Amino acid sequence: MSYVDATAAPLRKTGQIKLHGPQAFEGMRKAGRLVAECLDLLVAEVKPGIPTEQIDRFVHDFAMDHGALPATLMYRGYRKSTCTSINHVVCHGIPGDKPLKEGDIVNVDVTLILDGWHGDSSRMYPVGEIPRRAERLIEVTYDAMMRGIEAIKPGGTTGDIGAAIQSYVEAERMSVVRDFCGHGLGKLFHDEPNIVHVGRKGEGTILRPGMFFTVEPMINLGRPHVKVLSDGWTAVTRDRSLSAQFEHAVGVTDKGAEIFTTSPRGLHKPPYVS
Ligand code: MF3
Ligand code: CO
Ligand code: CO
Repeated sequence: MSYVDATAAPLRKTGQIKLHGPQAFEGMRKAGRLVAECLDLLVAEVKPGIPTEQIDRFVHDFAMDHGALPATLMYRGYRKSTCTSINHVVCHGIPGDKPLKEGDIVNVDVTLILDGWHGDSSRMYPVGEIPRRAERLIEVTYDAMMRGIEAIKPGGTTGDIGAAIQSYVEAERMSVVRDFCGHGLGKLFHDEPNIVHVGRKGEGTILRPGMFFTVEPMINLGRPHVKVLSDGWTAVTRDRSLSAQFEHAVGVTDKGAEIFTTSPRGLHKPPYVS
C-alpha cells in the first residue's frame, strides 16, 4: 500500500492512501461535529409510532438548515438522507412508512458533506423499553467500536483494529459481520483503506498520521452471515438475529486517533440521559 499527500492527490480513488494536513483536520472536525449534533437531536425524535421516513426528513432538513448535503442522497442510486436499520437489519435499511414499535432497536447512519468534507457516524436508538439482550448487544457493539479506535496508533496496522474488535466481541459470544467494513473518507465518501472489523494484530495496512477513516463494526447476536434483500440495499442477518452498529469517523494523529464525530452532549450510547 502506498501513501500520498492529500493536497497533491486527484479527487478520486487512486489506490493510494491520502495523508491529510491540519486544514483537512479542521474541515473534518466541522463536518463530524455537525453529524454528531444531528445524531444528538435524533434522541428526541426516535419513539414508538413514528415512521423512519420522519427521521430521514428531519436529517434532510437539518442538513439544509446548516449548509450541508446528505451524502447518501442520490449516491449510487440511493434516494434517502439516512440509513435506518431496525432489529435484524444489519445496515443500509431504507427509511420508509412503517412505524417504529416499542422494543425495536434502530441504527441511524448519517453522512453530511460540509465544505466538501464528509462527516459519517451512526448510533443505536432504543424505541421505548427494549429487551435485556438488545441492551447487551448495543453495549457490546459500542465498546467494540471504542476498543477498535483505542487500538489506533501510527505505525500500527488496520489488523490491530480488527483484532481488538473481534477478540472482544467473540469473548462476549456475539459475532462480527464480515461483508461490510469501515472506509477511508475525507473529500470522498468511500476511499482507501478498507477497515475490516476482524483480523490479526500487525496485519493489514500500516497506519500513518493524517489518515482519515471510519470504524463502524456491525455485531450480531447470532451468526455473522448476512444477505441483501431484493431492494438492492437492505442487509439482514441470515438467521434473523438482532444486529447493532455504531460508527465514528477518525483521523490518525502522532499519538493515536482523533474522533471527529463525538457527541457534544455526551449522548454516546443508550440510555440517552443528558
Ligand atoms: N453511511 C454508510 C457508511 O457508513 C454508507 C451508506 S451508503 C447508502 O458507509 F447509499 F447506503 F446510503
Ligand atoms: Co461509513
Ligand atoms: Co455511515
